[in-house]
Amino acid sequence: MSAAAAFQDQTLQNLWLYLPTAYDLERELCRMELRALFPEEWEWEAAGFGRLAENATVEVPVAFLSQRDITVDRSPYLRQRIHIWKRAASPQALSAWLVEQKTDLDGFKFVYLKHPGIDLQYSEWVSISRSLGEAIQGTPDMKSPRWELAFLPFQGEWFLGLYQRSRIQWRTHNLKPMNNSHSLKTAIARSMVNLAVGPDLTKSFVDPCCGVGTVVIAALGLGLDVKGFDINRLVACQAMDNLKAMGWPPVVSIGDVHQLEGHWDAAVLDLPYGLFTPVKPGQVEALIRRARQIARRVVFLAFEDLRAVIEAAEFRIVDHCLVTRGRLIRHVYLCV
Ligand SMILES: C[S@@+](CC[C@H](N)C(=O)[O-])C[C@H]1O[C@@H](n2cnc3c(N)ncnc32)[C@H](O)[C@@H]1O
Repeated sequence: MSAAAAFQDQTLQNLWLYLPTAYDLERELCRMELRALFPEEWEWEAAGFGRLAENATVEVPVAFLSQRDITVDRSPYLRQRIHIWKRAASPQALSAWLVEQKTDLDGFKFVYLKHPGIDLQYSEWVSISRSLGEAIQGTPDMKSPRWELAFLPFQGEWFLGLYQRSRIQWRTHNLKPMNNSHSLKTAIARSMVNLAVGPDLTKSFVDPCCGVGTVVIAALGLGLDVKGFDINRLVACQAMDNLKAMGWPPVVSIGDVHQLEGHWDAAVLDLPYGLFTPVKPGQVEALIRRARQIARRVVFLAFEDLRAVIEAAEFRIVDHCLVTRGRLIRHVYLCV
């Protein structure tokens, strides 16, 4: 049994309180990623967060409970969560439970969570953390705690548990030496891979038009079985240089998607839009049709509305959003 589980209320199954964050421009993508990583509707019902009408203001849930274990490094938008030990009607009930458990924790610390929509003033937090701290056997350690704990009120109850936050190590992917002005942002690339594979990291994955390899690196960072291809020799070699410089295996090859042999569970296809190399008439349509043959679930990124073309290629669009970067707006389609 893990140390954290040792303190968990045995009537609780594994339960996490997730605290999403997203900047305004990425909220649509954040919501879409949450729908892909937490597909069960009941989770959204529990969060009081359903699908909003197309033109409604984009809202991201302040917090939501789930039994699904999505680690804090997985998504750019889910960087902190609490592994719930106890839910109760009041902070006093949490204290009483800690006493009853004879909770023995050396080196604990309570973390003050400043999160939009969580209504807990600092003075109230100080007073509750003092009484919870007194209920714990063992000494606190403010400088280098072994246990970071958090408590907060949510939907009429009080929650207490182990606080987990991401060190955002995937940010080092920004340091790849070869970049193009049209390369995806590191965070967006990671999110695209999450959309494509959903919760399951055992899926095989391909980026058949990988450019300098931004999405390939994101997928490697998530531990996936990955392949990348690009028809443009120069660009594919830049992707290979990126992999080498960052210590990743050489999973990118020069290749035309129309000649690829193989079939993958999931793909991201960032469609060419003709900034450096002209896009021939029918080229984008042909790439989309080819994607249908090589992958089961595909995320398309496009600079125009391609709904009709995607559906004509016998894909079903299960989700869609817009991602804005400066003046560029990309359509993101999740298709099966
Ligand atoms: C929009 S870029 C991809 C950028 C990439 N996501 C990144 O972040 O660097 C599209 C890429 O598709 C490649 N491409 C176009 N047609 C292709 C084909 N038939 N097979 C493989 N790659 C192709 C282009 O060479 C270009 O590098």
